[in-house]
Amino acid sequence: MALRDLVIAPDPRLKMVCPPVVRVDKSVRQLMEDMMETMYHHMGAGLAAPQIGAITRVVVMDVSPNEDERDTSFPLMMANPEILFYSPDTDTYAEGCLSILEVRPKVCRPKSVKMRYLDENNQLQELEASGYLAKCIQHEIDHINGILAYDYQSDLKRSMTLRKLKKLQRLELES
Ligand code: NI
Repeated sequence: MALRDLVIAPDPRLKMVCPPVVRVDKSVRQLMEDMMETMYHHMGAGLAAPQIGAITRVVVMDVSPNEDERDTSFPLMMANPEILFYSPDTDTYAEGCLSILEVRPKVCRPKSVKMRYLDENNQLQELEASGYLAKCIQHEIDHINGILAYDYQSDLKRSMTLRKLKKLQRLELES
């Protein structure tokens, strides 16, 4: 496994619609493992491939609250994740993202989803999720479609967010 550099917005790599994985082979598994290491290093709950500069439909997540509560369903490593069903009911949550630093835009999303994906062994899996996991899945799938949490903001708020991001990046470079 290798720790990879995070891509921080605004960056054109975060705005691309990523092409699907042909099959989950050794190189895709390697990418998944690098993404897991990078996600855990930065204490994120999820990470999408473009966030480390890989333009492909791969996402990873681990939303278990702590080490002890991790069960066999976590972490999740997914290629070509696809949502089959969205619940009509929604809720709004301030979403964090490793690519937008401490900015937390409020995003309204369906409460639960049914989805399918290829796992790390190239097996097709189906998953029903609600609550925080459902939000995380939708957020990560947005990433591989070139959509960031601040894209849900109004034009005015988004321009404020982008200014804040540029300022934060400048401060990081100076420190
Ligand atoms: Ni994100």
